[in-house]
Parts: sequence; C-alpha cells; structure tokens
Amino acid sequence: MKIVVPKERRSDESRVAATPESVKKFIALGFGVTVESGAGAGANILDQDYADAGAAVADKIEGALGEADIVLKVRRPGAGSGNGGGKGLDEAAAMKKGALLIGMLTPLEDLPQVEAYAKKGIDAFALEFLPRITRAQGMDVLSSQANLAGYKSVLDATAEFGRAMPMMMTAAGTIAPAKVMVLGVGVAGLQAIATAKRLGAVVLATDVRPAAKEQVESLGAKFVMVESDETEQAETAGGYAKEMSEDYKRKQAELVRETLRKQDIAICTALIPGRPAPRLISAEMVGEMRPGSVIVDLAVESGGNCELSKPGEIVEVGGVKIIGHRNVPGRLAADASALYARNLLNFVTPLVDAETKSLKIDWEDEIITGTLLTRGGAVVHPSCKPADAG
Ligand code: NAI
Repeated sequence: MKIVVPKERRSDESRVAATPESVKKFIALGFGVTVESGAGAGANILDQDYADAGAAVADKIEGALGEADIVLKVRRPGAGSGNGGGKGLDEAAAMKKGALLIGMLTPLEDLPQVEAYAKKGIDAFALEFLPRITRAQGMDVLSSQANLAGYKSVLDATAEFGRAMPMMMTAAGTIAPAKVMVLGVGVAGLQAIATAKRLGAVVLATDVRPAAKEQVESLGAKFVMVESDETEQAETAGGYAKEMSEDYKRKQAELVRETLRKQDIAICTALIPGRPAPRLISAEMVGEMRPGSVIVDLAVESGGNCELSKPGEIVEVGGVKIIGHRNVPGRLAADASALYARNLLNFVTPLVDAETKSLKIDWEDEIITGTLLTRGGAVVHPSCKPADAG
C-alpha cells in the first residue's frame, strides 16, 4: 500500500497533509510513504525529517502519484479552478484508477473537479463533509482547523488594536479592558472567546443556536441573541445553523448594531454550510464603531460576515480596521499541519485491515458515505450529483 503526499500548490497554502509523526504511524500500519520534496517547508518540516521518519522524498512526484493507493492533500488538486485550487500539476490527473484521494476538497466550489475524479475512476473523500459524530471527532478537520483560526483571530485583532486588552491599574492611572464581541460561536468562536478572556478582555457573544448560550457562559462571557420561535429550529440535526428569515435578520441586525457600537473588537466566525456566510455587520454599523476598533472576519472566504471585508486584505474605513486574512489556520502552519495530519491518520487507520495490511473499506459506514464524493467512475455524494440525477 502506497501513500503519496504532494506539496500544496496553492500560493497561500502553508500547511502539509502529513508530518514525520503521521508518516511513522502510516509505515507501522503497513504503508510505504512518499513525500514531495519541500512539502513541509511552510510548516517548518525539512525533507530530512520525513526521510528520518522513513518516507521516500521525491523531487518529481508525478511518477509516485501514478502508483499511489492513497493521495493525501490539504486542498483539492492543483488544476481545480476557484479558491481551493492551485497552479501547476493536477495531482488527480496523475492518479491511477481506484486510488483514494483524501483532503479538504471543497467540492461545492468546483463541481467539474468532482466529475473529473469520477472520470478518472478515483474514489475521492471530502473531509469537511465528515459527520459530527463522537466516533469521528479525531478525524474532524473542521474542528481542528477552526479551533486554531479562532485563537489566531484574536491575536490578529490585538496586533492591529492600538490599545491593551486587559485592565491595567498603574501609578499613572487605570486602563480599561478591551471589549470584544464574537459573532458566531461554533468551534472557532468558542476558542476566540477563550483566547480573548485569557488576554483579559470583557467578552460578549452571539449566535442563532440557543445551545450556544450555555457554552458561552461556561467560558465566562456574556451571551446575547434575538430569541424567537424560529431560533428553536435554527439548528440542523448536524448541529449547524440554518439561514434565518428576513424578519429575524432585521431584528438581529438591530441587536448587533446596538451592541457593536460599544465594542472595541469584533470577531466574526458565522457560517452556514453550503451557503454564503450570513451578513451580520453592514457598512453603516462599521461607521458607528469608534475609530481604532478592529473587526476580524474569519468568514471572509465564504463571502464575509462584514460587508466591508476583503479576502487577503486589511481595510481601514473611518479609523476601523477590518482584517480579512485568508487561510487563517495556515498562519499557524506547524500546529495546523500537525493536527490535520493526525485527523488524516485517524481517518485512514480504520480503512486498513491490520492482519492483511491491505485496504478494507466498509462502504456502508456513515463516515465513508458522508465524505465519499466519487466511486467506481460515478459521482455518488448527494450534494455533488447533477440536479437532474437526483
Ligand atoms: P460553523 O463554522 O458552521 O458556524 C460557526 C457558527 O456560526 C455556528 O455556531 C453557527 O450557529 C453560527 N451562525 C450561523 N449563522 C449565524 C447567524 N446568522 N448569526 C449568528 N451566528 C450564526 O460551525 P462549527 O464550528 O463547524 O460548529 C457546528 C456545530 O457542530 C456546532 O453545533 C458545534 O457544537 C458542533 N460540533 C460538534 C462536534 C462533535 O460533536 N463531534 C465537533 C465540533 C463541532
């Protein structure tokens, strides 16, 4: 069984899909591992580190890709169009029929790529579709990466904020603590709250899922939300938020506007799977914030929670800075890669029969059916099938 780990080709991707630690464990499972030279550079992992762990390091990866049983990626293969793709080599095109491609493939952003996997006969798995069940927690790439993004978003805010976060009582007088509002309290939002609290800020948070209240309060922050009959239904069976009605959005905008004008920092993390991010902060609301305030929009790559955020830029409007860094987990590439590599190891391990040291996949398992995009030449994931195919 052969695993291949190519270098990520997207220019702003610093993470890598395997670490020396995961390589060693894959080898113990019975795999041979080939890593493309330079694959770990963005995460401070040297070719020699992979070689010491037992991997073969290849300058040219095309040949190895053709022999791989499993290809591990962070982003979807290079030739994919849109956000997730990169320039140059299309790893999927170089793969053999029946091989597995595993990564954060963002299939809904580029359905033609999914058809291309099917045509090639590749079995492709999109890990962001993993069901949020207990058994899959160790494989949960959304959680491992969002957790780091939530942490880093607060540090990015403090770096642009011209004041201190904690209350400081000095001989020269007292500095008031910064006021931080977190919009959207899933994994990233909860970590942002915890980080801002650790730095001494006064923190307040909002969401549309009432279940978030208890979690926010357990971190010592205040929770505010527009409560209505609608919020009782705001959470899907998978734990995700739904798109809210126009009436709800109007009421929520009023609450956000009233709250935001008293804040110094806003951390935006609100997402709705498969849809553009909800617009929570309008240009007008930014105009009502005090000069020196900072907004971090973690949702910027999904359309943004703030009307004025721009992917990859720090925009300043009326003295308010709006930070729209792309790929925030990649700003902590070493930790993000280490956690992601473990997620992949945890995903692949159950696919291997320990006795025969060969792949033995239970195609009925909900972890497999939840993530599998293509199999045996066909697109099989319901969300990726052409509409007329049902
Ligand atoms: P996400 O990244 O999809 O969204 C972030 C947050 O934004 C969510 O809390 C969502 O409710 C909120 N949001 C969406 N629209 C909003 C709006 N209009 N206004 C305000 N907030 C809005 O969420 P994430 O982090 O992926 O978590 C999704 C769910 O999965 C949560 O319920 C979480 O507790 C659960 N979860 C379960 C795990 C497990 O049991 N294995 C592991 C991780 C998360």
